[in-house]
Amino acid sequence: MNHVRKVQEIRERARQRITDGAVTDDYGLDREQAIAVLNEALATEIVCVLRYRFHYYMATGIHSQSAKEEFLEHAQEEQEHADWIAERIKQLGGKPEMNPAGLTDRSHSEYKEGTSLLDMLKEDLIAERIAIESYREMVRFFGDRDPTSRRLMERILAVEEEHADDIADLLFSQSEDEEPRKLYAKDEVPETSRAGKPARGSTPAPGVADDGAARAAKPS
Ligand SMILES: [Fe+2]
Ligand SMILES: [Fe+2]
Repeated sequence: MNHVRKVQEIRERARQRITDGAVTDDYGLDREQAIAVLNEALATEIVCVLRYRFHYYMATGIHSQSAKEEFLEHAQEEQEHADWIAERIKQLGGKPEMNPAGLTDRSHSEYKEGTSLLDMLKEDLIAERIAIESYREMVRFFGDRDPTSRRLMERILAVEEEHADDIADLLFSQSEDEEPRKLYAKDEVPETSRAGKPARGSTPAPGVADDGAARAAKPS
C-alpha cells in the first residue's frame, strides 16, 4: 500500500475515534470514550518506545553516535509518556491496555524499522508527526470537559514537537558553506549487505543513497 495513503488512513481513523459520539446529550465527556482515546495514545507511545529502542541498538556507523543518544533519550521519554497515560486511564476507572496483541492496530504511529540510519530517522520523523497531529486532536477532544487529560496530552504534545525537531535536525543537518549533506545516508544496520545495490562507483539506482559514488562521478 502506498505509504502516504496508509498514513492518511491512520489519521482518518484517529479523527474518527474522536468525533464518533464525542458530543453526548449533556455535552459531558463519555468516560469509556475518553479511556479508549487514551488507550490509543498509550499504544502509540509503546510502539514509539519499541521503535526508538530498536533504532538505538541497530544504529551503527561513524555518524551514528549522536543519533544513538537521541534514540535512547526519546525511548526513555516515550516510556515516561506511556506511564503518565496509563496512570490517567486508571484514575478514570479504566484499564490501561498493555496486551501486545492489537498494539499496532491501536497505535496511531506505525512500527517501522528502517534499513539504514537515514531510513530510521525518516520513520521516526513520520511517526512523531503522526503523534503530533493525533495528540492535537486529542487536546481538542478533551477541551474543558476533562482539563486534566487535556493538560496531560498538551504536556506530551510539547515533547513530541521537540522530538520531531531533534530528528529533523539530524536528518537535514548541513554546513553553511557546502551543499546539503546527507550525513547518515551510508550507515547500514549490521545484517544488511550491499546485495542488490549497484557496485561501488556506478550510478546509484533511484532512491538508493550513495553519496560517495555520486561525488566520485562529479567532475571536479
Ligand atoms: Fe511520547
Ligand atoms: Fe516522541
